[in-house]
Amino acid sequence: MTTADFWIERWRSGQTGWHQPEGNAALRAFWPSLNIAPDARVLVPFCGKSPDLAWLHEQGHTVVGVELCADAIEQFLAEAGLDNATVSDVEQWRIYETDRLRLIAGDWFTVPTEVVGPIDAFYDRAALIACAPEQRQPYVAQINRLCGPDAKGLLVTLEHSGASGPPFSVPEALLRDLYEGDWQVALLDRRSVDNVPPALAELGPAYECAYRLERR
Ligand SMILES: C[S@@+](CC[C@H](N)C(=O)[O-])C[C@H]1O[C@@H](n2cnc3c(N)ncnc32)[C@H](O)[C@@H]1O
Repeated sequence: MTTADFWIERWRSGQTGWHQPEGNAALRAFWPSLNIAPDARVLVPFCGKSPDLAWLHEQGHTVVGVELCADAIEQFLAEAGLDNATVSDVEQWRIYETDRLRLIAGDWFTVPTEVVGPIDAFYDRAALIACAPEQRQPYVAQINRLCGPDAKGLLVTLEHSGASGPPFSVPEALLRDLYEGDWQVALLDRRSVDNVPPALAELGPAYECAYRLERR
């Protein structure tokens, strides 16, 4: 199990090697092809302090991020110059809100629809692959519960030869097993990447894959 303590400690000690200061290239390349309406509400699970939140916001979307570590959200807001966010507590969730941006600090696996609000699309980069094997089905169950009936998603995964993680390898067959009951899955891109932890790079090539998901 990849516990909350593990992630809190990674943020506390600055071990955030997954963070992409320039954002994710696959998001910028493939999001437009999903034809998501500008006024859509877009869910970003396990959002960290990714600049992808700001990019999605710039497309006109209302962006709803969920992140375990409040410090990550506060770093994002500070780095984005968003010092006007209001902060409120709803039960165990701390909600940071500013124009078309709602960032929820708390546990993804239990966050209720009333806290998240309606969702038209989702973007997952390094979220499913951050889940330990026993967390994958609960993770996808939350996606299914929170996303609306016509939702679409862009999902960016990693494939590598290692058995451990995070990041865990999520090959295409596993991804289809998890999602195809409720979503149509299309592979958009598969390319080799070298920004993986050294212990994984030693085992062989790693691939970043991008998928389009549409509710059945
Ligand atoms: C590999 S990072 C990816 C962050 C971000 N998606 C990005 O691309 O930079 C995974 C993130 O998920 C967060 N996380 C892990 N478990 C979580 C949970 N149960 N609920 C919400 N966030 C969680 C961690 O704190 C961490 O910031």
